[in-house]
Amino acid sequence: MMSSTTYDVRRGRLQTYFNATAVDQWAQLTSTAPVSRIRQTVRAGRDRMREMLLDWLPPLEGARLLDAGCGTGALSVIAAERGAHVTAVDVAANLVDLAKERAPWDLGPGRIDFHVGDMLDPLFGAFDHVVAMDSLIHYSTAEIVGFLEGVAPRTRRSIVLTFAPQTPALAAMHFVGRLFPRGDRAPEILPVSPARLIRAIAVSPKLSGWSAARTERIVSGFYTSQALELVRA
Ligand SMILES: C[S@@+](CC[C@H](N)C(=O)[O-])C[C@H]1O[C@@H](n2cnc3c(N)ncnc32)[C@H](O)[C@@H]1O
Repeated sequence: MMSSTTYDVRRGRLQTYFNATAVDQWAQLTSTAPVSRIRQTVRAGRDRMREMLLDWLPPLEGARLLDAGCGTGALSVIAAERGAHVTAVDVAANLVDLAKERAPWDLGPGRIDFHVGDMLDPLFGAFDHVVAMDSLIHYSTAEIVGFLEGVAPRTRRSIVLTFAPQTPALAAMHFVGRLFPRGDRAPEILPVSPARLIRAIAVSPKLSGWSAARTERIVSGFYTSQALELVRA
């Protein structure tokens, strides 16, 4: 069972980091501006990941989607252009401002409602799909399961998230740690065992109506992240 205190403490640290310390780096990484070769590998991996997560969702026309930890909003924009009504939430106000600035005026049939806040806040209501791309990589297995238990009762169809898989390579190389200078005190990435996470989901009484479906790892230079799809059983 997740302790909400550790989740809250972690969220507070991430807010400071993404809202202040790393805001410029994230702005740059998520743009098309030139970046170092290392960051190019991360950007390429994240582009592939975003594309794959969006591919895992069915046609989005009229669907309600939560982009949990939306950052600068790239996934929200594509989802909205495909017709989704996106609720884009991030705890870092500066990133949400940037996401609003970057979002095109014309989102075709879709729309995006941006919010600064906790992605787990029940006030955001119910969704057809929830996507959390690289928003849970700083949380423990128990906290990820806690997140799922929180959103699952308000989700009609699928939840897609990514986590940092525990691999020998990752144990030696934490991509955000390397990505930004040491002085930035990047919050730790917590590698999670895929098997342990899937087992913890399977035994959670609050997730009894759900099962793990697709899972796929993307490795691109300094970026390693694994996607997991949960669907209603
Ligand atoms: C690694 S970034 C990824 C951002 C975006 N999903 C992307 O792929 O570009 C993680 C984001 O999750 C946000 N985040 C972490 N915990 C959060 C929480 N509990 N509620 C809302 N946002 C959160 C951070 O502020 C940060 O912007």
